[in-house]
Amino acid sequence: MKPRVAILISGRGSNMTALIEAAKMPDYPAEIVLVLSNREDAPGLKLARDLGVRAVSVETRPFGRDREAHERAVNAELRKANVQIVCLAGYMRLLTPYLVNEWAGRMLNIHPSLLPKYPGLDTHKKALEAGELVHGCTVHLVTEDMDAGPILAQGEVPVLPGDTEDTLAARVLGEEHRVYPKALAKLAIGNNFKT
Ligand code: GRF
Repeated sequence: MKPRVAILISGRGSNMTALIEAAKMPDYPAEIVLVLSNREDAPGLKLARDLGVRAVSVETRPFGRDREAHERAVNAELRKANVQIVCLAGYMRLLTPYLVNEWAGRMLNIHPSLLPKYPGLDTHKKALEAGELVHGCTVHLVTEDMDAGPILAQGEVPVLPGDTEDTLAARVLGEEHRVYPKALAKLAIGNNFKT
């Protein structure tokens, strides 16, 4: 049995799409069974449904400032779907220790920089300002410290003369779409996930 995977999104869902497309290949070692967004207007929800994957939203508003209560509702959806691995793909919520601990070793994130360089936001701007010649993306396990968990895979792209934040972001995004499915496959193969 292939491990069952949920993807958490907040927006456009291009990494989500890359993961779903990769998992359609018969020999891919994981199955995408659920997409979950904290925003019901996330464009990625419709994309997921069009690709044949169940997609639900768990809005934050009803939970006010209680982030853990929201995460308990998210986690209930993940457990109901018998998920074994969670992929964050543009999920724009800081997680509490509750959800991180529930999924320790089984939750991945993609970040648009070569970590440990440039954690947090505005990574392309920071790479350009620092005069980097090489930039890229990282897939890592999620731990309580933001963008600091063990690294599973990285992809590099050149920074070219005349690059803007947008041109560099687009080049990195292309690499994200290549690296994330590889990293998920690596985790899925390397662990004995019980159903
Ligand atoms: C990506 O750049 C990813 O690295 C970051 O958020 C963005 C999500 O984009 N964590 P998308 O929704 O996958 O298109």
